[in-house]
Amino acid sequence: MAILVTGGLGYIGSHTVVELLNNNFEVVIVDDLSNTERFILKNIEEITGKRPVFYPFDLKRRELLTQVFDAHHIEGCINFAASKAVGESQLKPIDYYENNLFSLINILQEFKERGISNFIFSSSCTVYGQADKMPIDENTPLKMPESVYGKTKQMGEEILSDFAKAYQRKVSLLRYFNPIGAHPSAKLGELPIGIPNNLVPYVMQTAAGVREKLNIWGNDYPTEDGTAVRDYIYVVDLAKAHVAALQKLMQSTSEEALIDIYNLGTGKGSSVMEVVKAFELANIVEVPYQICDRREGDITIAYANADKAERELGWKSETSLEEALKTVWEWQKYLETRNTEIKL
Ligand code: UFG
Repeated sequence: MAILVTGGLGYIGSHTVVELLNNNFEVVIVDDLSNTERFILKNIEEITGKRPVFYPFDLKRRELLTQVFDAHHIEGCINFAASKAVGESQLKPIDYYENNLFSLINILQEFKERGISNFIFSSSCTVYGQADKMPIDENTPLKMPESVYGKTKQMGEEILSDFAKAYQRKVSLLRYFNPIGAHPSAKLGELPIGIPNNLVPYVMQTAAGVREKLNIWGNDYPTEDGTAVRDYIYVVDLAKAHVAALQKLMQSTSEEALIDIYNLGTGKGSSVMEVVKAFELANIVEVPYQICDRREGDITIAYANADKAERELGWKSETSLEEALKTVWEWQKYLETRNTEIKL
């Protein structure tokens, strides 16, 4: 019995694979290596002492996926594989719809035909848009996301809800807030391929001198210091939530709801400026920055009410912002030791 982890060599995927292996799950990874590198597999093995099965192919290739399902007794899936760059999704909408939705549908076809249940979907707080009140709980009304990327997440949720109801299967929709940090071993983290869009990888590279200055997108938001507020959740904490969500799905009885939805965040908002200062303090480094105009499509504030996950999964975020940011700096140092392989 194995768990299929798509995108299992990616940022959140690789951390989740480690937690699954540590909890004695058998893991089968499918990843097309479009946004990661092969050495992550070796590092997973170094951390856990176990080597998961790995297939390098694009999930849009249904015939290859069918072979994986033929070869393994798959009893659940955590689906991380997706394109995730917000800006790029606006420029390449059809590619985003194709990649993110066709791959999901291909897996669900296999699930449908083989009677498999237990599907965990990587969703995002982006499905809430700019919510009217904070913190955001799971009953907060959804708004049409601004980006194509966000729309693929909302559509993915709908496809899975229809799947669960029509075929009586269990699914869990996990809405991540802003994942940050790296593995404490410094062997896994977010690979900075190209110019980072997200705040923490950009801060990391600025502190390392790879980027000259951090651009802070706007200091005229109606927040305490004028910079936008998000809920930054440590990636290892986030990975553990997947194991808890999977265990709940696998143990649930037929009387329980078919669709679980959880916000995964810390419950605490931090401003861009607070993140920059916390990074400097945690790592005793300087992060030069300049204030720029707001970035198009950005919301002012988003932080989670994650009480439902605590109540039902027994999970809560444990790691402080400073601790998470320390792991980021250790990861950067690790990347510098292997800089020939990293595409900056
Ligand atoms: N920011 C900067 N400078 C940067 C990068 C980011 O000031 O160089 C600011 C942003 O303007 C924002 C905050 O830092 O206020 C966080 O930005 P990120 O790009 O790290 O994260 P977002 O909240 O914009 O993105 C998250 C998820 C996406 C999701 C999006 C929806 O990472 O997957 O929310 O809003 F689509």
